[in-house]
Amino acid sequence: MYRNTPDIIREKLAIVKEELIRRQIPVEIEAAAEYYCDEHFEKEIEAQTLLTFGTKKYVLFEISFAQENVNLGRAIFNMRLAGYTPILAHPERYEFWHGDFRKYESMLDKDVHLQLNINSLTGQYGPDTRRISERLIDRGMITFLGSDCHHMGHVQLMNTARTHPYIKKLIDSGNLLNAEL
Ligand SMILES: [Fe+2]
Repeated sequence: MYRNTPDIIREKLAIVKEELIRRQIPVEIEAAAEYYCDEHFEKEIEAQTLLTFGTKKYVLFEISFAQENVNLGRAIFNMRLAGYTPILAHPERYEFWHGDFRKYESMLDKDVHLQLNINSLTGQYGPDTRRISERLIDRGMITFLGSDCHHMGHVQLMNTARTHPYIKKLIDSGNLLNAEL
């Protein structure tokens, strides 16, 4: 849906990096993408042209919010085969999985990392999403924490989440791999 080619992404990254230097903000940033699990994604897996991050060729991908994509299992298998390490974006937001916790366990069985949105803990996406987020943290299943930040409203909300007990629990768990990237 969004025409974000690797060239466009790299071009914008360079602009942001320049701005950070200009404003003397000492933060290191890199860019990759959040891929939607469709046919085009599968072609990119095959062609090995995905944007990755970290030393383990991490690939962040998401599925439909309406129903499980039919190609999910195949896409995961092919990612692993191609040497990528898949990370499923915001698993807590797929409501069709809320009633079947085994779906989350099956992702771990397939060596897929789970990335939680910080704001899911604030109730921003509803009480069910919040509950499943807490359960995923309780079970030690979350290995990446993300902002999914689209606008300043999300930034403000994240500010309120900073002191959330489950954020603390997740950080204290030692399961997070963010710092290793
Ligand atoms: Fe997403």
